[in-house]
Amino acid sequence: MKQEVHGNLTGIRDSVIDALSSLYNYEVEDGDFLPRELMQFLARFTGALNREIAVYITRDGEVVDVSVGTDRDVELRDYRLRRNAQRLSCVRCVHTHPNGDGRLSDVDLSALRSFRYDAMVAVGCLKGEPTFVQAAFLGETQNILMDEPVRGYKVPDAEWNAQVEESDRIVGWEDEQKHPNVKERAVLMGIESEESLQELARLADTAGAQVVGMFLQKRDKPDTALFIGKGRADELSRQCQALEADVCIFDEELTGIQVRNLEDMLRVKVVDRTTLILDIFAQRASSAEGKLQVELAQLQYQSTRLIGQGLVLSSLAGGIGTRGPGESKLEMNRRRIRERMTELRRRLDTLEKQRELRRKSREKNEIPVVALVGYTNAGKSTLLNHMTGSDVYVQDQLFATLDAVSRRIETAEHTPFLLVDTVGFIRKLPHALVSAFRSTLDEAALADVLLIVNDGASGEMYKQHDTVMQVLDELGATEQPRIEVINKCDLGIAEPAFPGAVMVSAKTGEGIDVLQSRIAAELQKTFAPVTFVLPFSQYGLVGQIRPLGRVISESYTDEGTELTIVIGNADRDRLVAKYGQQIIKS
Ligand code: GTP
Repeated sequence: MKQEVHGNLTGIRDSVIDALSSLYNYEVEDGDFLPRELMQFLARFTGALNREIAVYITRDGEVVDVSVGTDRDVELRDYRLRRNAQRLSCVRCVHTHPNGDGRLSDVDLSALRSFRYDAMVAVGCLKGEPTFVQAAFLGETQNILMDEPVRGYKVPDAEWNAQVEESDRIVGWEDEQKHPNVKERAVLMGIESEESLQELARLADTAGAQVVGMFLQKRDKPDTALFIGKGRADELSRQCQALEADVCIFDEELTGIQVRNLEDMLRVKVVDRTTLILDIFAQRASSAEGKLQVELAQLQYQSTRLIGQGLVLSSLAGGIGTRGPGESKLEMNRRRIRERMTELRRRLDTLEKQRELRRKSREKNEIPVVALVGYTNAGKSTLLNHMTGSDVYVQDQLFATLDAVSRRIETAEHTPFLLVDTVGFIRKLPHALVSAFRSTLDEAALADVLLIVNDGASGEMYKQHDTVMQVLDELGATEQPRIEVINKCDLGIAEPAFPGAVMVSAKTGEGIDVLQSRIAAELQKTFAPVTFVLPFSQYGLVGQIRPLGRVISESYTDEGTELTIVIGNADRDRLVAKYGQQIIKS
């Protein structure tokens, strides 16, 4: 697609306009700020036309605009890739001065202030060659940081790139000081059910938005262009305006086209449920692995939704839907997204291998794993804290826990086991997330016992339980014994319909002892006491077996050492295979 060269094109030959238009295909390499070849190209045409030329370059190195001016000026454009007008625009403006003077003018500097470019750069050109180059950046309280002009061949790329980052940080920080804790006003739109919408409201709250309106239009099939009907969209637009909304959140996944059409129509940012969930995950991820996983999931989701520059630009804004675990990683083009995804996968692979090693060493020690799984907010972390006396982040918000947290504890009979907390499940959990969090969720899939934690206080308990079962199925966690736990029974809950469920309150501790003995009973099945009889000639074996479990008694008889120990079945079988059945007392 040929992109237009803007500005004063009168009297310029088509071939020259074509040549200038080819700049749109030019990409500035990573790490470069202003490549010499670009400068020379601009100088050559500036000389030939005797007019100023301006190009606008994104942080990704894409040229997004080319304009031609007169011999004294070029109209500087307000080109923003961020909607928040206080932040830097994510675009640097490079323009030429045909009189050979590479110094920035007052007009240039005031444009830098008002348009909040990443950087303002002037390239002096004489006889078709660059002379001097000067760059300026925004600093604290709108002050301008200006470097001395440098020779065209001495542009300090790394320094200037670093300065952009620094300016972005300063300007962003000042913006936060000026607008502390201003919550985005969100209008919610659902097509499924009131419950799903209520949950969306909790998600929005968790993401830090203030819900100012909630609407439901039941539909079986979404409209391809607008998701909701045209008439309803018109009405929603008025409602968003009346409620002074900043963002409209849809309770389903939207296609890229729907987002763009809706944004055009509603004139507020449009975010879908998946983006919202990803956003929460981005805020919450704390471990290195969690951060990489969220970023990968975000990019995966985003990459299926890029349908042209317009959309990329329109989806950039502050607040919900644009947060990533990295700095401004969401502001990327397709190529960068692909490269970044490959890089993330590679790093995750390495972490996965380490995790696998840890898991193997755990298997070797035969410490059984008990995993807490359940719908988000069911009280898994609270339960883990109560049972282990640890201090895991507990919040009455969705997805307080993202990374698998595990603690080593013991049953009353002193059988050690690992209790693992996992990320909360949720209906319509974005698919990208399930696969991204696979390794974390695998903790659940590979556990020896599953504690299915249900929120007894929720009117949606059974539906939530269904979702949990579905996700467990998807993970292939179908083999191991399950213990159903109904939590929050301090809130006065009627007897639940799950057979054999244990009623507990993670808050008051009620029922926890029953739960603990149920866990112990399940563990016993794979982890039972065994009495070994080891002749004195094999005394060395005693030393090998002791660390494999918990020793209950050790005595000496005529036959040798009698050692009773709670040990994993796998270890017991391995020993028998190696030393024969006679080492076990029948
Ligand atoms: P995710 O991290 O989102 O998966 O949540 P979670 O299942 O780990 O839930 P968490 O432990 O963070 O608890 C959620 C909310 O429920 C918190 O406000 C807890 O204080 C509350 N809660 C947990 N257990 C109980 C309980 O037994 N009784 C009452 N009344 N509240 C509880």
